[in-house]
Amino acid sequence: MRYRTLGTRQVSALCLGTLPLGSAVDETTSFALLDRFVERGGTFVDTANCYCFWRAGSDGGDSERLLGRWLAARGNREEMVLATKLGALPAGAGAWPANREGLSAGAVRKAIGGSLQRLRTDRVELVYGHVDDPSTALEETVAAFAGLIEDGLAEVVGMSNQGVERFTRARELARLMRVPGYGALQQRHTYLRPGPEADFDYQVALDEPMLAYARSRPDLTVLAYGALLNGAYTEPAKALPAEYQHSGTAHALKVLAEVAAEADATPNQVVYAWMLGDSPAVVPVIGVSRISQLDEALDAVELELTAEQRARLDTARSEIRAEAEETGERL
Ligand SMILES: NC(=O)c1ccc[n+]([C@@H]2O[C@H](COP(=O)([O-])OP(=O)(O)OC[C@H]3O[C@@H](n4cnc5c(N)ncnc54)[C@H](OP(=O)(O)O)[C@@H]3O)[C@@H](O)[C@H]2O)c1
Repeated sequence: MRYRTLGTRQVSALCLGTLPLGSAVDETTSFALLDRFVERGGTFVDTANCYCFWRAGSDGGDSERLLGRWLAARGNREEMVLATKLGALPAGAGAWPANREGLSAGAVRKAIGGSLQRLRTDRVELVYGHVDDPSTALEETVAAFAGLIEDGLAEVVGMSNQGVERFTRARELARLMRVPGYGALQQRHTYLRPGPEADFDYQVALDEPMLAYARSRPDLTVLAYGALLNGAYTEPAKALPAEYQHSGTAHALKVLAEVAAEADATPNQVVYAWMLGDSPAVVPVIGVSRISQLDEALDAVELELTAEQRARLDTARSEIRAEAEETGERL
């Protein structure tokens, strides 16, 4: 395992996503995945207070409760780094995501209490706003998250699914308000670039302006979800999401396959290695439902791409941008 910095502590370079654990993935398998992750040096796990509310009979607390049971059973709370997210749980009438709890001061306080109870802990190392909430003043949300640090309920706060303008503004506000600002960012991100017309609804993809901002901000840890496109890079039965199908896709996938063959690795491992070695280094939030998938991800940590391979991958994935610029389109 390799390690990265989150705030003032070291965390494993891969973060284990636990979205399906305790619901789609049964308890025995979930515990086995967590045990294996730790056995191989993993310390950093990702959950949310809304996983998986969309499943019949779920209140959204399954993943956090599963983690709470596992931490209690293993007695290893102090060795683990827990990240959770709040703000996306349905909280009223109407359709999701419009009816989500949001990121007002009251919603943030209420949500963290529930998370800590389910996780059976008195604080988390990282808490994110799950989805941007433009209906609450940025100042209010920034102060609410800073308050979690000030009250010892979180060590680092962050945001997920927020565009670069509001994210950088929120960090600047925290500086002006003299309170702790966001130290982590979690966006949708993979090797393939989304096409110019891609619309992820409430999800936000990691884009070049955000990467450029993060590159010169060593106090900011960047994490990526959706890295394997749900398995579509290698599973023929899984269709590539429409947002990633564009004129540059076939060539980018061909180069990915070539590099994987040269490196004696799978395309999934090359995607992870490409992220891990990027500038800024990106921490993949990995999604797995089987031990073999977890081992494949963990093995990718040791994979070092050459500068030439990285350059080839970077060029191939950028072709969509070159085409868009030529035609005057905005990415
Ligand atoms: N911040 C956010 O808004 C947000 C959104 C989504 C997710 N997340 C976090 O990110 C984590 C990962 O997200 P994700 O599940 O969307 O990630 P992903 O990397 O796009 O997909 C993971 C899925 O890919 C398949 N897979 C994994 N390894 C594989 C392998 N070696 N070969 C073939 N298929 C493989 C598995 O599907 P099968 O189980 O079908 O085999 C697995 O569930 C979540 O657990 C959650 O913690 C955050």
